[in-house]
Amino acid sequence: MRLRLTTPLFLSVVAMASIVAVHAAAATKAVAVLHPTQGSSVEGKATFTTAAAGVKVVVHVTGLTPGKHGFHIHEFGDCSASDGASAGGHFNPSGDPHGAPTDAHRHVGDLGNIEANAEGVADFDYVDPRASFEGPASVLGRGVIVHANADDLKTQPTGNAGGRLACGVVGATKPE
Ligand code: CU
Ligand code: ZN
Repeated sequence: MRLRLTTPLFLSVVAMASIVAVHAAAATKAVAVLHPTQGSSVEGKATFTTAAAGVKVVVHVTGLTPGKHGFHIHEFGDCSASDGASAGGHFNPSGDPHGAPTDAHRHVGDLGNIEANAEGVADFDYVDPRASFEGPASVLGRGVIVHANADDLKTQPTGNAGGRLACGVVGATKPE
């Protein structure tokens, strides 16, 4: 009797889990609109799209000083603090040290630097092998931060990239 009741219940839980999994896997594209933090005029957009080798990240940012600026996915999709500090540290679900995008051991959020031209515009197009739209490395709902300084790709745990000039939240968009 107990088995007859438990088995359908178990199957319905499996069915519900499958439905949830299907919905989670449906996200193939996301966007983060980057808004200036207090005192900053840096703004832009980052799009995230599933690619064969990971997640393709395309970034357009304006209002920068020429040169390199640290660009990371941070743990929290919270840009409510005027200085962007509410986004927390670098997104690091694997518990690795800070590093370069090409390092075997690094934060999932370590996308390195974007580089602004003489007009203060940075365009960045990159496929990240670690980022995902599902599982522990899912970037959905995380924060995106543009920094004042270059990420040196080695100082722990921040890359010494300085203040936060723009902040955005990665949100799923309508699949194409
Ligand atoms: Cu950062
Ligand atoms: Zn990092």
